[in-house]
Amino acid sequence: MDIVRTIAELRLALAGTGRASFVPTMGNLHEGHLTLVRLAAQLGAPVVSSIFVNRLQFAPSEDFDTYPRTFERDCALLEGAGCDLVFAPPEGELYPQPQTYTVQPAGALANILEGQFRPGFFTGVCTVVLKLLNCVGPCSAIFGKKDYQQLLVIREMVRQFALPVEIVAGETERAADGLALSSRNAYLSAAQRIEAPALAAELRRIAAAVQGGASDWSELEAGAMRALQDRGWRPDYVAIRRQSDLGAPSASGKPSRDEPLVVLGAGMLGTTRLIDNREIPPTA
Ligand code: PAF
Repeated sequence: MDIVRTIAELRLALAGTGRASFVPTMGNLHEGHLTLVRLAAQLGAPVVSSIFVNRLQFAPSEDFDTYPRTFERDCALLEGAGCDLVFAPPEGELYPQPQTYTVQPAGALANILEGQFRPGFFTGVCTVVLKLLNCVGPCSAIFGKKDYQQLLVIREMVRQFALPVEIVAGETERAADGLALSSRNAYLSAAQRIEAPALAAELRRIAAAVQGGASDWSELEAGAMRALQDRGWRPDYVAIRRQSDLGAPSASGKPSRDEPLVVLGAGMLGTTRLIDNREIPPTA
């Protein structure tokens, strides 16, 4: 596996290899990332992964400075999962100082849910992903469903800018107790780690209730918020949405089970913010 630091080195390394399958990351890798890399390897093209902690997607109050940088370990894991080339640019290589051009995703998708609680987050994500896609020029790029809204925002960016890349979704990897794997799980204390699967459990409960025919969806959402609060969380949202665009499925006042839904949730457990989601297939 080769490691390159500059865009020029990257383009040289990619010359003549055929277009790659690309897995962008911020490093601090776990099994969830490696599943995406293995999925990329199955697509038959060379596998490129990036490691870049993207300042633009962190608010000043967030953990940019303390975000774990575990480069040597990440590279060993990437190699083991079948990655052929790692692009790990220093900040000054990827961003002119300052980066004054950014991608502003449509508010209807990007200012809700995560975007409501992390203003500017999706602008930062889209800007870096567009730039990385331009540098790597892959035929496909793989994003995890764990960051469901991010996946949709990027799909829509690719569609609106007619970028020549297929966005492939990877399933969420979970610990045995149901907790979705996330780099930020490492911030949890031992007691918080025991509590953390409660978010996934609430989402699972809602998905089962909707599938079982429950129709008071706002009460399901509010009930999950209350349950998490009672357990010591500060939940940001629990929301049942359309899979296609994360719009509210019951805008007409009448819940519709005809289309694929997803229930998404986010909240603070101590000082760690966790997000998760569960897809709810339509009724047959
Ligand atoms: O999901 C992530 O790790 C990041 O948001 C991404 C897509 C690598 C952009 O920095």
